[in-house]
Amino acid sequence: MILAIESTFDEIGAALARSNTIGGVEIVASCIASSAAITAKYGGAVPEVLAREQVAMIIPVIEECMTKANVSKDNIEAIAISYGPGLVGSLLIGVETAKTLAYAWEKPLLKVNHMVAHVLANFIHKDKIPCFPAVGLVISGGHTDLVHLKELNSWSLLGSTRDDAVGEAFDKTARILGLPYPGGVLIQKATQNWRTRKSVGLGIKLPRPMLGSENLDMSFSGLKTAVVDLVSKVEIANEEVIEEIANEFTKAIVEVLVNKVKKAIEITGSSDFVLAGGVAANIHIREALVEAMTAEGVRCWIPDFVYCTDNAPMIGAAAVLRPEPANFDLRPESSLEVI
Ligand code: KG4
Ligand code: ZN
Repeated sequence: MILAIESTFDEIGAALARSNTIGGVEIVASCIASSAAITAKYGGAVPEVLAREQVAMIIPVIEECMTKANVSKDNIEAIAISYGPGLVGSLLIGVETAKTLAYAWEKPLLKVNHMVAHVLANFIHKDKIPCFPAVGLVISGGHTDLVHLKELNSWSLLGSTRDDAVGEAFDKTARILGLPYPGGVLIQKATQNWRTRKSVGLGIKLPRPMLGSENLDMSFSGLKTAVVDLVSKVEIANEEVIEEIANEFTKAIVEVLVNKVKKAIEITGSSDFVLAGGVAANIHIREALVEAMTAEGVRCWIPDFVYCTDNAPMIGAAAVLRPEPANFDLRPESSLEVI
């Protein structure tokens, strides 16, 4: 059993994970302490404030997770830590704690890339797992990457955003519309409201950036700029207009993502598609991709909602499936160099 720790942004998570008989991952226990309310209060991450919270939370979260599963250090084979990408202060808390525990308990230390872990959250299943070759789409607050998963250990990047990540576009657009941070889920709510209204609205249109481009790269900052332009021309004090803009924004994102994923499936000849990252929690994106992949005869995998946004189980899943050798130097003075 692996003890996995996640501390890349505004949460501290601990999970106990092990492999199951179908080649997937079983999560034995998971605990999380979130500082999302602090991030929301400041309208974004304040790294030093988050790191101070995380220092206080990390040991209690690990202890709670182990108590919940009724396991001691003797049941743990290795400690896995998400080493990045993420905020340096938050990473430092997690990495130093993991290194110290590994040293004191004499366990191997496994390093896990946070983005790889988002994708491998799709293997937390008890009766079925994705097959290779597959196409992966990671959509989070900081990344938007299309990946070709030839095998479990052989991945290559097919395309990326050239500017804003999809999550960033959601959060920035929400802010422009006067919705609080984090805006992704509020844009989703506004979109749902619009779709139940069945109003014709103002006929608002937003661009679909790089939809027609030959390559698999994407771009979302122009979409955000188009929303800025729009709100300088229309009155957004009206809830119905906000909802109409949110709906059109969601449609633009969905259209671009579906188009790029379909192209990636065609180029790679993949049988499976895996969606990952915090924005994979968006119901409109989930529905559209399931529909598009079903129409193409491609199996579509999307993690449960709790495994989309940052979580420790996905770090456990990556450590179980692709254990990278420990290469952290245990000398404390080198702590930041390893990140
Ligand atoms: O993967 P994640 O938890 O953290 C990063 O690694 O970045 O992703 C966070 C992002 C944020 O931008 C947040 O607004 C977005 O995921 N998000 C959503 C939804 N839930 C979270 N975006 C759209 N719709 C949602 N339901
Ligand atoms: Zn993440």
